[in-house]
Amino acid sequence: MTVSSKDKPADTRGLAGMVAGDTYICAVNQTQLIYRGFEIADLAANASFEEVAFLLIEGHKPNKKELENFKQELIAERVVSDEVLDVIARIAGQSTDVHPMSILLTGISLLSHTDPDSEDNSHEAEVRKSKRLLAKIPTLIGAGQAARDGRERVSPDPELNHAGNLLWLITGQKPTAIAADVMNVSLILYAEHDFNASTFTSRIIASTNSDMHSAVCGAVGALKGNLHGGANEAAMEMLYEIMSEVEAGKCSADEWMQNAFQSKRKLMGFGHRVYKNGDHRAGILRDWGIRFCEEVNPEAIKWFNLGDEVQAIMLRDKAIYPNVDYPCGMTYYAMGIPVPQYTPIFVASRITGWCAHIMEQHSDNRIIRPLANYVGPELSNWNDA
Ligand SMILES: CC(C)(COP(=O)(O)OP(=O)(O)OC[C@H]1O[C@@H](n2cnc3c(N)ncnc32)[C@H](O)[C@@H]1OP(=O)(O)O)[C@@H](O)C(=O)NCCC(=O)NCCS
Repeated sequence: MTVSSKDKPADTRGLAGMVAGDTYICAVNQTQLIYRGFEIADLAANASFEEVAFLLIEGHKPNKKELENFKQELIAERVVSDEVLDVIARIAGQSTDVHPMSILLTGISLLSHTDPDSEDNSHEAEVRKSKRLLAKIPTLIGAGQAARDGRERVSPDPELNHAGNLLWLITGQKPTAIAADVMNVSLILYAEHDFNASTFTSRIIASTNSDMHSAVCGAVGALKGNLHGGANEAAMEMLYEIMSEVEAGKCSADEWMQNAFQSKRKLMGFGHRVYKNGDHRAGILRDWGIRFCEEVNPEAIKWFNLGDEVQAIMLRDKAIYPNVDYPCGMTYYAMGIPVPQYTPIFVASRITGWCAHIMEQHSDNRIIRPLANYVGPELSNWNDA
C-alpha cells in the first residue's frame, strides 16, 4: 500500500508546529510581530530602543518619568570593571579566530561573579540584573572589538543613547545621527521573537531554578549558530562570495544560485520556521539600510542591488523569502561594522527579550522536561552481547 503525502505524518523534528507554552510577551504570526500588544512596524517607526527595552523588561509602555529614570539607570550601569575588560581584551587580542560571540559569552559569565544579585531569582533582583546586562553588554562587545583592532578601548559615552553608544564602543568613532537611527531600528527589530531557539534555551535553563546569567549564557550559545542569530554574519559572507565571483567575471548571480541549489547549499538569511510568506522585519530594515547608503555611503547600494537580485531568484526558484538577517548583513556592512560583531549586536538587543522570558518563566515555573521517543536497539543482556 502506498502512503500519499496527505497521509504522511507532519515532520515534527525540531518541535516544528508545537506550542510549548503561554507567554504574555510576544506574538508571532504570518502578518504581525507583536511585543506586549504593540506591532513591530509601529514600534520601529515611533519608539526608541530604550522604550522597547522598558516595555519588555518592565511589562508596560513607560511614561516620561519612567523612561528618563530608565535611561539614566542604563547610563550609570554601562561601566564594566577593568578586571573583566582586561580578560576580554586578552582573549580577543590573541587571535581573530576566536569568535566575538564566544568572547561575549565569557564576558557575561564573568559579569555574574561581580553582580550583587547573581544568585537572587526574585523579580526585583531580576529586573535589576536585566538592566545591568542590557547596559554592560555593549561595553563588553566594544572592549573585544578594540582588542581585535589593536587599539585602546574607549569608555561608554553618557551623551549617547543605547544604539549610538554601542556603535561608539565598537568603532571608537562617534556615530552620525543616521547611523545611530539605523542601529536603533535594528535593535528594536531584533529585541524579541517568542519561543525562538535562544529564548527557549534561556527558559529551559531558568526552569531548573538556575539564575539569569546562566540562562543568558545558554541563550548566547544558541544564538551563535548560523541557523539562528549567526545568520546575519553568514548572509553577508554569502553575498560577499557571490559579489566576488560576479565581479571577477566567473559567473552571474543566477549561475551562482543554480550551483548552490544543485549542491543543496543552504542560503543564509532565507527561510523561517514561522514566517512562510515573508518576514516583515526584513522590509523595514532594508528600507533603513538603503536610506543609510543614500545619505552616507552611496557605493554600498551595490550590496542591496545584488541582494535584490538574489532574493528575486530565491523567490522565483524556491518560493523562499528573506528573513531579517538578510538586510541586516548588508546594512551593517554599509555602516562599516566588522562582520563578526553582527551577532553580538543581536545579543545587545535580544538580551531584553531573554530577560523578559526568564522572569516570566520564574514567575510561574514548572521544569521544562519533554519526553523522547526511543528508537534505539532492542533490549539485550550485557553479558550476552
Ligand atoms: C530558518 C530555518 C533554520 C528554518 O528551518 P525549518 O523550519 O526547518 O525549514 P523549513 O521546514 O521551512 O524548510 C522547508 C524546505 O525549504 C528548504 N529551505 C529552508 N530554508 C532554506 C534556505 N535558507 N536555503 C535553502 N533551502 C532552504 C529546506 O531545506 C526544506 O527543504 P527540504 O524539505 O527538501 O529539506 C531555515 O530556513 C534555514 O536554515 N535558513 C537559513 C539560516 C537563516 O537564515 N536563519 C535565520 C532564521 S531567522
